[in-house]
Amino acid sequence: MKRLGILLSGRGSNFEAIAGNVAAGRLDAEIAVVISNRPEARGLETARALGLKAVCLPSKGMEREAYDRLVVAELKANQVDLVCLAGFMRLLSAYFVRQFPGRILNIHPALLPSFPGLDAQHQALEHGVKVTGCTVHFVDENLDSGPIVAQATVPVLDDDTADSLATRILQQEHRIYSEAIRLVLSGNFRIEGRRVLAR
Ligand code: GAR
Repeated sequence: MKRLGILLSGRGSNFEAIAGNVAAGRLDAEIAVVISNRPEARGLETARALGLKAVCLPSKGMEREAYDRLVVAELKANQVDLVCLAGFMRLLSAYFVRQFPGRILNIHPALLPSFPGLDAQHQALEHGVKVTGCTVHFVDENLDSGPIVAQATVPVLDDDTADSLATRILQQEHRIYSEAIRLVLSGNFRIEGRRVLAR
């Protein structure tokens, strides 16, 4: 059974969706460890309530690579096959990325390469796009970069606020993250340049 390591910083609804699919047998994997850089993250509580291994590694005040060494050590101690960033609000160091080549996924609440970084839903609203969405991609050393595994579109409605838009995007995030994990774990893909294609 493939082992997932989940990294989060807050609410953890993407993690919950993944855990739900694992529990229901819709995702053939197990969650080996859930790690948060913030002690107050609700996702940590959820992980404990689900009987999963939950580890808090506070990042505050730590230099990036020193911190990443702690996280990588924890992931390796738990024999993680695939690292899933689920609302983990930190850029990974080159060191981290090199430890898990092609084995780190992230979800972002916009259609990358549009609106990388923070507050993507707000950025989309401000820019006036009529369609936005979410993206699951492999992680490289740059922000919200790396080959795209899955995307879903969400229309922007005239009366949307950043919150209402975020809520609808989140529904799609919960769906496509598990689909992307399933594809990556199956190994039935190849990467040509930036393109992730069916094998
Ligand atoms: C999600 O919308 C995720 O796409 C976003 O944070 C939220 C986390 O929600 N991630 C980023 O913006 C990363 N740049 P969750 O904790 O409920 O899964």
